[in-house]
Amino acid sequence: MKAVIPAAGLGTRFLPLTKNSPKEMLPIIDKPAIQYVVEEAINSGIDDIVIITGRGKEVIENHFDVAYELEKILEERGEKEKLNEVRKISEMAEIFYIRQKMPLGLGHAIYMARKHIDDEFFAVLLGDDIIVANQPCTKQLIDVYEKYNASVIAIQEVEMEYVSKYGIVDAEEVENRVYKIKALVEKPAPREAPSNLAVMGRYILSPKIFGYIEKTKPGKKGEIQLTDALNMMLENEELYAYVFEGKRYDLGDKFDWLRINIEMALKREEFRERVLELLKKLTNQD
Ligand code: G1P
Repeated sequence: MKAVIPAAGLGTRFLPLTKNSPKEMLPIIDKPAIQYVVEEAINSGIDDIVIITGRGKEVIENHFDVAYELEKILEERGEKEKLNEVRKISEMAEIFYIRQKMPLGLGHAIYMARKHIDDEFFAVLLGDDIIVANQPCTKQLIDVYEKYNASVIAIQEVEMEYVSKYGIVDAEEVENRVYKIKALVEKPAPREAPSNLAVMGRYILSPKIFGYIEKTKPGKKGEIQLTDALNMMLENEELYAYVFEGKRYDLGDKFDWLRINIEMALKREEFRERVLELLKKLTNQD
């Protein structure tokens, strides 16, 4: 299976940083966010990845490329561990880049990959959603796709007050954690939301979606919304949702970025004690 990672958004929720730096390169301690997403795809058995980029996103391409000068210097200095770490990134997977010339929405960004995908189901991983899980979230979706032979979307329950930040599904549970979708609404007001089951940035999609995106008119925020195309596809194809196991972080959100950095630091032995001590000290000061 191939994967598409849309990474062309402007990241306006993370200004001023995103004025000149892609939010996908935000560090989670020492690794850029997009590397986590690429690793999730690879750990799910995917080895052909298309990243949809846009103006100012060249640094993403450089990150996954060979860094000849750096590698040479590390080699000369005998810094083997660092050299391996750097080399590993450029050898990870076959990554293709397609530029979206205008930020016309998620549906439009995915549409850019149509010629690369052929006539097969494919995975979509949104570049600013980081999911930490024992089994990669995309692999969990692939398992459901293989059972039902239909498109599958990752969902999780959210507090009703937050439904307006997400695509929300109207769905019926068909087995533990699996729902059959009846309709989707993009970022509804709480009183208009059909449920509190929110779409979380991971999808396995039928290649038919491209035809529906083509017919989709600009929707919320004047953008070509994937949610609208999915609603059209629902009239002719089954669509499932899966309540995945794992923790999701929204890297477009400043607080979530702080949270993932603290939580990841607590998971690393080299930082754990010092972070706990610092947090204790800071809380006692209040
Ligand atoms: C997009 C989708 C939305 C989904 C969300 C998950 O919105 O349009 O349906 O719930 O990603 O992160 P965005 O956050 O890009 O506005």
